[in-house]
Amino acid sequence: MTREVRESKNSRTDLPFVTVKYAATLDGRIATATGISQWISSPSSLRLGHRLRRDHDAIMIGIGTVLADDPRLTVRLVAGRNPLRVVLDSRLRIPLKARVLEEMLAAGTLIATTEMADTARACEIERLGAEVVRFPSAPEGVDLRQVLGELGRRRVASVMVEGGAGIITSLLSARLVDRLVVIIAPKIIGRGTEAVGDLGILNLDDAITFSSVKVRRLGTDVVFDGRLSATDK
Ligand SMILES: NC(=O)c1ccc[n+]([C@@H]2O[C@H](COP(=O)([O-])OP(=O)(O)OC[C@H]3O[C@@H](n4cnc5c(N)ncnc54)[C@H](OP(=O)(O)O)[C@@H]3O)[C@@H](O)[C@H]2O)c1
Repeated sequence: MTREVRESKNSRTDLPFVTVKYAATLDGRIATATGISQWISSPSSLRLGHRLRRDHDAIMIGIGTVLADDPRLTVRLVAGRNPLRVVLDSRLRIPLKARVLEEMLAAGTLIATTEMADTARACEIERLGAEVVRFPSAPEGVDLRQVLGELGRRRVASVMVEGGAGIITSLLSARLVDRLVVIIAPKIIGRGTEAVGDLGILNLDDAITFSSVKVRRLGTDVVFDGRLSATDK
């Protein structure tokens, strides 16, 4: 992503540029029915994921993904600095042993929560070195526009969202996504976690569309990389 793109988005809306990235099967699943998603994509695509992390100022995930996958959210497979880690967790369900709260990582982790969260729990998390910030609640959890606004005020120009389905759906529903990167693995698993839930779209004319799209092969996978049309935002 070029600096020009990020700056123009930032000065126009004060919100960071938002990239959503996920790995899906041919039938649009990001995890099996038992919640397993590691690894849907090929090793080459995992490297792409780490390059994308390096190229963004922050990575954001939902608490569901912490509980299912316990990711570190660090840049490992390519050289580069670690972005800020942001976890959306309205009731502070995050385990104190979560990897993003480990000694070397906690200081670069922000837990976005709400007034529903227990104060003693917030103190425990902060003692580990992470920052806990309360935002207004929304029907789905933490108010995403408020979180992105706060990140913008902190001069975070770009955020990559790595799932899961709940956060992806909320962001698309609120038309807060600028770029979508989908790694499509040549696999079919049937019932499982669908990448995108209900968006309330009943007519194809109302579908979210893309203004520019690049498609390429990566190992055994196909990578879709598109900018959402301005009219869909
Ligand atoms: N294939 C991939 O690329 C990929 C990537 C990531 C995850 N996954 C898979 O996805 C699954 C997890 O998906 P998920 O939907 O359960 O988890 P998620 O999107 O990571 O987290 C959803 C949870 O986040 C909290 N939340 C806070 N604010 C929210 C908001 N504004 N909108 C939506 N959620 C908000 C809610 O819990 P509270 O109400 O408690 O706050 C909600 O239940 C796992 O199986 C994981 O392996 C796959």
